[in-house]
Amino acid sequence: MQTIDDIESLRAALAEIRRDGRRIALVPTMGALHIGHLALIELAKRHADVVIASIFVNPKQFGPTEDFAAYPRMLVADEAKLSAAGVGFLWAPTAEVMYPTGFATTVTVAGLGDQLCGASRPGHFDGVATVVTKLFGQIRPDVALFGEKDWQQLTIIRQLTTDLNLGVNIIGAPIVRASDGLAVSSRNSYLDAAQRQIAAHFPAVLAAARSAIAGGTDVSVALDAARSALIAAGVGQIDYLELIDSDSLAILREHASGARLVGAVRIGQTRLIDNIAFT
Ligand code: PAJ
Repeated sequence: MQTIDDIESLRAALAEIRRDGRRIALVPTMGALHIGHLALIELAKRHADVVIASIFVNPKQFGPTEDFAAYPRMLVADEAKLSAAGVGFLWAPTAEVMYPTGFATTVTVAGLGDQLCGASRPGHFDGVATVVTKLFGQIRPDVALFGEKDWQQLTIIRQLTTDLNLGVNIIGAPIVRASDGLAVSSRNSYLDAAQRQIAAHFPAVLAAARSAIAGGTDVSVALDAARSALIAAGVGQIDYLELIDSDSLAILREHASGARLVGAVRIGQTRLIDNIAFT
């Protein structure tokens, strides 16, 4: 695997790949790689001849009081994982390469980015949309893979790809979970043992709420019960817990086809998100 951190070397590598007519899959990440990221790599291999992973802890998607400085950075360990997984190239630009002095453009996906995580993290999805648009411009992949764990992010990326005619096939990958059901996340490393036990209640509460709603319980009653169960389990704060339409992200007051439960909670300083579809 070749690690590339400047635009000129990236262009040279891409020119060679394209000369051979090989299809490119991009897997964007912020590093601290875990089995959720590696599942995206495995899926990427099925859709392309060459997999390019990116690692960039994107300052534009972190709020001023968020964990940008603390976010785990472990490039050498990540390179070993990507290499073992069969990734051809790692694109790991510095902040200066990604956002040179004078950089002035922001990509905003109106509506979709303001609610749910966007409400508790103002500007977050502008940062995501801007960096993903740049990654697509830099690499011009045939396909790009994103996890369903970040359902709102996936929806926003699909929208901007369509709106801007970026010509990238966006593929969503199922959520990878630990044995206790918690969605695997780089941020899980912030949790101590007691918090980790509390965190395991989050997917369980979502699953219980889904069963209740599917069984006919009133949506607001089921959501209130779920919120109470989370607080009783030791969750410090619930940023949101809602039933939404999977495509529009509109909040649903009644169960309908395409519904999805989505939530964001805080345990200590750690913010966790999860979601669960109705089959
Ligand atoms: P990051 O949190 O590193 O996640 C990179 C990709 O891995 C995202 O598409 C995310 O949805 C996926 N992922 C993370 N945990 C997962 C899990 N348990 N199961 C399945 N997929 C999982 O998301 C970002 O980085 C950034 O916002 C990024 C898109 C790279 C833009 O900066």
